[in-house]
Amino acid sequence: MNSRQSTAGFMAMKGAGYYSKATIGAKHVMDNAAGLVLDAIERMAPADDGTIFRATDMGAADGGTSVDLWRRVLKDVRKRVPSRPIEMVYTDLPRNDFAQVFRMIHGQTDIQSYYPEIDDLYVFASGTSFHQNIFPAQTLDLGFSATASHYISSTPCNITNHVHMVGATGAEREAFEKQGANDWETMLLQRTRELKPGGRLCLFNFGIDEEGRYLGHTGGVSMFDEFNRHWRALADDGVITEAEYLNTNFPQHYRTVSEFIAPLEDSSNPVYKAGLRLEHIETRVVRCPFEQDFTENHKDAARFAVEYLPTLRSWSEATFLGGLDAWRGSEERQDIMDEFYGRYQKAVAAAPKGHAMDYVHAYLICRKEG
Ligand SMILES: C[S@@+](CC[C@H](N)C(=O)[O-])C[C@H]1O[C@@H](n2cnc3c(N)ncnc32)[C@H](O)[C@@H]1O
Repeated sequence: MNSRQSTAGFMAMKGAGYYSKATIGAKHVMDNAAGLVLDAIERMAPADDGTIFRATDMGAADGGTSVDLWRRVLKDVRKRVPSRPIEMVYTDLPRNDFAQVFRMIHGQTDIQSYYPEIDDLYVFASGTSFHQNIFPAQTLDLGFSATASHYISSTPCNITNHVHMVGATGAEREAFEKQGANDWETMLLQRTRELKPGGRLCLFNFGIDEEGRYLGHTGGVSMFDEFNRHWRALADDGVITEAEYLNTNFPQHYRTVSEFIAPLEDSSNPVYKAGLRLEHIETRVVRCPFEQDFTENHKDAARFAVEYLPTLRSWSEATFLGGLDAWRGSEERQDIMDEFYGRYQKAVAAAPKGHAMDYVHAYLICRKEG
């Protein structure tokens, strides 16, 4: 990926259901925190006035990881407002496997859909980025997004010695921070415009917590350093070029808690002025299910490595593929991916201690004034 390449042009989780099958930890994050959304709906106290109740899951990928959260939330809404048709809108970027969302909702996968269990429910999808307007003004009751807002709209520059902004320093780090702040403000402003007065926005965001922890960096082997180490080794071994190494940058910014809340607390910020208020923020760490199973149950290092790598691959592969030159054929590109993740897997099998993709999130609940 060259600097300033738009994220929407290449980003997608691995398709055909691979994402939600491999990424059970993201489901745990949502299942564990569904109560925050239910509490927000209780505070919202929606009127049973026969109008459409619109909810959205932004950056939903294949929809499989959030299905049980939505079962609980939409059933709760159905009970509270029996006269209101419910509209549920899944959104993601244009390259997302939306067919998988529809197949999941309509019972054509092994995931149990909530759709047949809820009356007067209408499910739609949108391929419009959450950095843009998705809905007409004041038509959204409940906005939700999990583990997606860290994707920035484009990378501001290449990172010289790393693949992720957590390893960037100096001007490169600052450029990511600036892009992250701009995109966060834009995302919040668009949602504020779309929310009805009294509507709620629930965002479970990857970020950096008060102790400096972030995804895969909670005290053991640091996952993004491992990604960088193996990608660097492919360049040193001539499997990829120096330019490809340099052009590989996750289009992500991990915000700190103060970066998350800045536009919601500064009364001169356009988001605050537009009427979005912070109701709740907390950070949580959710343990890597594969590491936990390995440590507490099977203790088989080879099995751990085989089970662990797909969860990393499900969301990171698009970035590494995006760094490769366009002249490489699709078979060669896949061979490079297999070599890369294969090396990582071998390293985990040989020395499993400390490897874990623990999830670190900041959970925000916001209210639109009015
Ligand atoms: C790690 S996945 C999370 C999927 C699901 N929400 C979950 O928690 O399991 C991040 C998703 O955000 C999507 N995404 C990234 N940038 C986006 C944007 N600007 N607008 C909408 N979706 C975006 C990606 O395509 C991807 O499907």
